Order: sequence, then structure tokens, then C-alpha cells
Amino acid sequence: MSLLDIHVLGAPILRQETNPVTVVTDDVRRLIADMFDTMYAARGIGLAAPQVGRTERVTVIDVGRDKAPPQPIALINPEIVLQEGSVRGEEGCLSIPEVYGDVDRAARVVVRALDGDGQPFEIEGTDLLARCLQHEIDHLHGKLFIDYLSILKRRAALAKWEEQKAKYPALIRTVVPVSVVAGRPDAEET
Ligand code: NI
Repeated sequence: MSLLDIHVLGAPILRQETNPVTVVTDDVRRLIADMFDTMYAARGIGLAAPQVGRTERVTVIDVGRDKAPPQPIALINPEIVLQEGSVRGEEGCLSIPEVYGDVDRAARVVVRALDGDGQPFEIEGTDLLARCLQHEIDHLHGKLFIDYLSILKRRAALAKWEEQKAKYPALIRTVVPVSVVAGRPDAEET
């Protein structure tokens, strides 16, 4: 088990486009395994490669967090091929600890991706899974949930982050500060 450092807001890599994976190598599979370890340790429901300082177009998701059994989903080169409806819901992000905001997302999405064996598959998501898929795929294109907030709400979110960020080094170990885990028990961070 190997925990990776999570990059927080301000790290340039969070704003960079990722590179599609051309061959699913052992290195990519190791990255996926480490990302799952890191996501579970941080009590997140999704994690994208740029958040751990990597440029591969890879994300991991498990929205079944406290439910047994786990529902790990690894997506390589994911693409939204269908989206419909719109629903507003609260989002957080492991790269912007303690900041939350309401974001409008498609209510249902179908995503096409490669799995850890390089095999194509499609996954349909509604509710939290749909939101998480869209949030993580955004990460793979340098986009963060705060980008969707109104100017005023974004300004408030960034002000909150400015207050909080001294607590977080540019890289945080995924031994998560207690306040993040305990602060908002109902909020999901991806
Ligand atoms: Ni996120």
C-alpha cells in the first residue's frame, strides 16, 4: 500500500490538461492501485491523477464508501458520451479542503473508458455517481468545481480557502487533518 501526496489549490498541475494513456502498463496499474489507497485513506469518493501530481488521464471512484462491499471503479481516458437533465448539489474536493459549493451537473451520464486491463467499457451514472464522474473528468481537463460557482460565491470560496490554506502545505499527506474528516460528515470530497 502506497499513499500519494495530494496537491492542493494553487498547484499548477491541477490546471493542466492530462495526456491520454496509450498503453495500460504496469506503471499505470500501480498508479491506479496507489490512487485507490490514497482516496480511501483521505475518505474521498473520487480522485484524479493530477491531484496526485500525475499527468495520465486516469481517475478512480468509489461512491459506495461506507457501504459494503466496496465499489471501486477505475477509469482510463474517460469520456462522457451521453448526458441529460440537470441537478444542483453540493461538492467538495480533496484538493480544496474545507471548501464546498453547489454545482449544477447533468443528472445522468454515460461514460466510456478503458479499465485497468485496457478493455473498453461504458458506465451509466445517476445521482452521486453521475456527479462524481463529471467532477473527476473535469479534473482530467484542468477544471475544478469552484469554476462553476457564481463570481460572488467563488470569491467567498476562495476567501475561505485563503484562510484555511496555511494549515495545508502545498502537498498534503493523506493522513487527513481531523477537521477535514470531522468537519462535514455529510459532505463528499472528490
Ligand atoms: Ni476534486
